[in-house]
Amino acid sequence: MQLFPEKRIWSSDISLTEHQNPHYGDLYFSSDDGMDETMYVFIQGNELETRLQKGGDFHVGETGFGTGLNLLSLLTVIPENPEKILNLSYSTVEKYPLETERIRSLLLPFKKRLGDLLTLFLKQWDEFRTSLAPGWNTATWTFPGGDIRFRLYFGDVLEWCLEEADPSVDAWFLDGHSPDKNPEIWSLPVMESLYRRTKVNGTLATFTSAGVVKQTLRAAGFTIKRKSGFARKRHMISGFKS
Ligand SMILES: C[S@@+](CC[C@H](N)C(=O)[O-])C[C@H]1O[C@@H](n2cnc3c(N)ncnc32)[C@H](O)[C@@H]1O
Repeated sequence: MQLFPEKRIWSSDISLTEHQNPHYGDLYFSSDDGMDETMYVFIQGNELETRLQKGGDFHVGETGFGTGLNLLSLLTVIPENPEKILNLSYSTVEKYPLETERIRSLLLPFKKRLGDLLTLFLKQWDEFRTSLAPGWNTATWTFPGGDIRFRLYFGDVLEWCLEEADPSVDAWFLDGHSPDKNPEIWSLPVMESLYRRTKVNGTLATFTSAGVVKQTLRAAGFTIKRKSGFARKRHMISGFKS
């Protein structure tokens, strides 16, 4: 039995509603240690610190952009002196893009840790968000570790998954709220679309270890492994396309 099955843990000093996505009644991330969880689940879960050292083209995909904490956490592990130049792309999908001030407030606990990355992100997000149109929106964002090609699909993941797409993704962050609160983002058509978009040997990681998620990922074609979860969560999932 899991102690905290699929719920994100929330801190008693910040109200639940402040950290909740009202559309799904679920948290964006754990307010106690959201960034540590992101580093553990998504960055380590995809072995990105090692993989990014090799440089070259690298494409990270995500379901559920939310506050951008996963992107920001990724930017903290961009190697300073990679063996080769890194050409990083980040593609994500979001139905309810957050206002800049809401992101600023939600990411406040990580302000010190993120430093200039947060300031630069909020500035670039603010410009990007004002011109968002349904479907794909693209920008090149500049950070101390280099430029990143950022693409956001503004719309429902169920529309996004119907698109034709080439296998270009090296690593996925599956972060679309808990499957009991938001089953659509874990549904078979979405997982099949993820599979089609993944390169051979591309990987995925997610905070959930729900049986239905494992089954659906396997049905889509991924090889799935259950791993120890972050902090009080017993398990998480990682996987790859063979
Ligand atoms: C747990 S939050 C993501 C947290 C995020 N990765 C971060 O770093 O803050 C899940 C996100 O998925 C989005 N989402 C959920 N269902 C969706 C859907 N059907 N289509 C597009 N976005 C969806 C939510 O609006 C929410 O922002």
